[in-house]
Amino acid sequence: MSPSFRLAVLASGRGSNLRALMQAIDAGRVPARIVGVFSDKPAAAAIALANDAGLFTAIRRPADYADREAHDAALFDAVATVQPDLIVCAGYLRIIGAAAVRRFGNRMINIHPSLLPKYPGLHTHAKALAAGDAVHGASVHAVIPALDAGPVLAQVHVPVRPGDDADALAARLLPREHALLCAAVALLAEGRARLFPDRVELDGRPLTAPLRLDDTDRLTGA
Ligand code: GRF
Repeated sequence: MSPSFRLAVLASGRGSNLRALMQAIDAGRVPARIVGVFSDKPAAAAIALANDAGLFTAIRRPADYADREAHDAALFDAVATVQPDLIVCAGYLRIIGAAAVRRFGNRMINIHPSLLPKYPGLHTHAKALAAGDAVHGASVHAVIPALDAGPVLAQVHVPVRPGDDADALAARLLPREHALLCAAVALLAEGRARLFPDRVELDGRPLTAPLRLDDTDRLTGA
């Protein structure tokens, strides 16, 4: 029997996080099902991947709407039709306006390639290198109206190595991001983790620090 926890995935790009989620679901590691994949970009590889897998997809192009609010409303109207329990922003490269965030408050996560609160926004790998960080990573956080600023559920760390450039660092991080996203979605689907605008709870208790993905892909407390 397929799990009842319903995921809507938002993606603008190549869709490697979407692919990782699909594989983890198929392997029984994430007790959820993807009920729709949504994008602002018709040519997104993520949409082709979803179509090939027979998933429901919907695209709303920003150019077809008067402003951000109108585009958000159209995209999230489409999302609402699939009645998601959780919306996963997996490389959705647009800022989501406050009205849309409020509409789905506490039901939306984002994967961001930095150890938040460090480096919100773009070019996170270059920023970590420029700062001379010895450790870089990724975060899964609740979406709130401020960019990349919601409470963090879980993180994964990777080392920065001598000679790394942004591409090398991104390539080292990406497979760990995939494992992080799958483990975080599993916790939410199991009902163990819950999102709030100001905190994340695990097993009914507020997290005082993000969970951390270990080398065996388990999330452990700080
Ligand atoms: C990932 O690095 C994710 O952390 C960031 O955008 C990238 C998306 O990659 N938000 P993909 O489209 O899932 O391959």
